[in-house]
Amino acid sequence: MGRVLWRSSMLVSVILVTVIFQLSIGRHEKVATPPPLPILPLPSYSQLKWQQREIIMFLHFGVNTFSDREWGSGHEKASIFNPSGLNASQWASVAAEAGISLMILTAKHHDGFCLWPSKYTPHSVISSPWKSGKGDVVQDFVNAATAQRIDVGIYLSPWDKHDPRYGHDVPYNEYYLAQLQELLNKYQNIREIWFDGAKDPKAQNVSYYFSDWFSMVKELQSSINIFSDSGPDVRWVGDETGTAGNTCWSTINRTSLSIGNPDITEYLNTGDPRGTDWLPAECDVSIREGWFWHKSESPKKLSELLDIYYNSVGKNCVLLLNVPPNTTGLISDTDAHRLKEFRSAINTIFHHNLAESCSIKVSSLRGGKEGVFGPENMLDSDHLWSYWAPMEDGGKKEHWIEIRSRDGNLRFNVIRIQEAIGFGQRIKEHEIYVDGKVIINATTVGYKRLHRLLQDVEHAHVVTIRIINARGVPLISSIGLHFDPFWHSRLTVPRK
Ligand SMILES: *[C@@H]1O[C@H](CO)[C@@H](O)[C@H](O)[C@H]1NC(C)=O
Ligand SMILES: *[C@@H]1O[C@H](CO)[C@@H](O)[C@H](O)[C@H]1NC(C)=O
Ligand SMILES: *[C@@H]1O[C@H](CO)[C@@H](O)[C@H](O)[C@H]1NC(C)=O
Ligand SMILES: *[C@@H]1O[C@H](CO)[C@@H](O)[C@H](O)[C@H]1NC(C)=O
Ligand SMILES: *[C@@H]1O[C@H](CO)[C@@H](O)[C@H](O)[C@H]1NC(C)=O
Repeated sequence: MGRVLWRSSMLVSVILVTVIFQLSIGRHEKVATPPPLPILPLPSYSQLKWQQREIIMFLHFGVNTFSDREWGSGHEKASIFNPSGLNASQWASVAAEAGISLMILTAKHHDGFCLWPSKYTPHSVISSPWKSGKGDVVQDFVNAATAQRIDVGIYLSPWDKHDPRYGHDVPYNEYYLAQLQELLNKYQNIREIWFDGAKDPKAQNVSYYFSDWFSMVKELQSSINIFSDSGPDVRWVGDETGTAGNTCWSTINRTSLSIGNPDITEYLNTGDPRGTDWLPAECDVSIREGWFWHKSESPKKLSELLDIYYNSVGKNCVLLLNVPPNTTGLISDTDAHRLKEFRSAINTIFHHNLAESCSIKVSSLRGGKEGVFGPENMLDSDHLWSYWAPMEDGGKKEHWIEIRSRDGNLRFNVIRIQEAIGFGQRIKEHEIYVDGKVIINATTVGYKRLHRLLQDVEHAHVVTIRIINARGVPLISSIGLHFDPFWHSRLTVPRK
């Protein structure tokens, strides 16, 4: 009761202050209505940049490429590492053609072999025949990516099956930290660093000093995003199929997370509307069956990659797609080709937004018709800071967007909705209607939500998006009605 009274007296004073302010500045001087207050937690600058990348490339490469294994034994001879035709510029060209802005390389996998000449172990490129032991894959990778204006990231496996210090807490943590310092001092502008909890249950026990590692990483490179099961900047989505939960919050409680804990995968998959930390999910999956290149494997079909895209990027996540170089040291033509097809399909689907030729009505407008929060903001190319904002309502009223066709002939099978996440993730529940009939009943939206419809919608007049439950008023940065011809053909042409 007291809370309600307090709220309404707040509302009255807000209105009073607004009126007095507008009177005091006079009728003729127009000033813009300020943006609404954010709802915490918020993304950091680096997390926002990460989210906009949508697809990141992972490159698994090392002695496993040559031994044809997924997890090495740690007993591999460095002499097997000999990628005679290694050309990191080819990796970067493949990434650039696929519109990828960040590539992450396995500097060291579980087998302990280092792709750079580390001073702390001889088990590296130094002992290999490649470039007579004078090569540095990490340096080649950084140079090639930078030349194509692609950012770089690094994976350094905590589990190390080769190093004799593994199994002894202090010596191993010292070794691991020394390598982190070596990498982050030598190679600049690393945008993401990847830590995982993968480990054989029969392996020796070691406590990883994660707090020391994370502090050291941020000390050396402050704009980096740290990925692990529990962040602190990017969280694992909880599976390796590239699939986020149908409900997927970028917010979660970090205190409920720990690295390598199998009991939290469900929580990681959906996030937490009450979460106190902004920790968006990354969906890691390989273009092939395995993470490393194997002669016997081939890339996934385009239709599978598109399914993965809708289930990751289309559910408020970033897709981390692994494309492994082969024993020659090049990305296979088949993979490069499939990746290019994938990008081209995404461009085809989203190039045309049917909503642009429609008239758009909304339930209310912050700051009225004179304001700067109009529905036209949902059709421009800014998907963060230009948005439609309704009037403040105390969280009770429903909000809606009505997209009305000028000729009553809309044909689409994908609906896109994006929130202005710079002010916090808000939408809890939404419904979509076509000519009065409900076709979607769903929960979260976040940075991007894609609804791919089971059936094409034909000859539609009006599409209505109703936001029925949200943390505060919803702020919508973009909407789209699209036609996915790849999906359509799968429905009409029987799959082989
Ligand atoms: C390396 O790859 C790049 C990009 O594909 C290509 O332009 C260059 O000629 C290649 N270099 C060699 C030595 O093959
Ligand atoms: C590691 O620790 C766990 C729990 O303390 C124990 O059950 C397991 O046997 C240990 N493994 C090894 C290889 O020592
Ligand atoms: C997360 O933390 C918030 C705030 O402390 C709390 O209300 C919420 O219940 C927590 N979520 C879970 C799943 O424990
Ligand atoms: C690796 O990929 C390149 C580019 O497609 C190809 O020329 C080379 O033959 C491949 N190597 C192997 C071992 O398949
Ligand atoms: C959507 O689902 C919720 C929860 O199951 C239900 O309460 C609501 O009535 C549904 N809305 C429509 C339009 O079907």
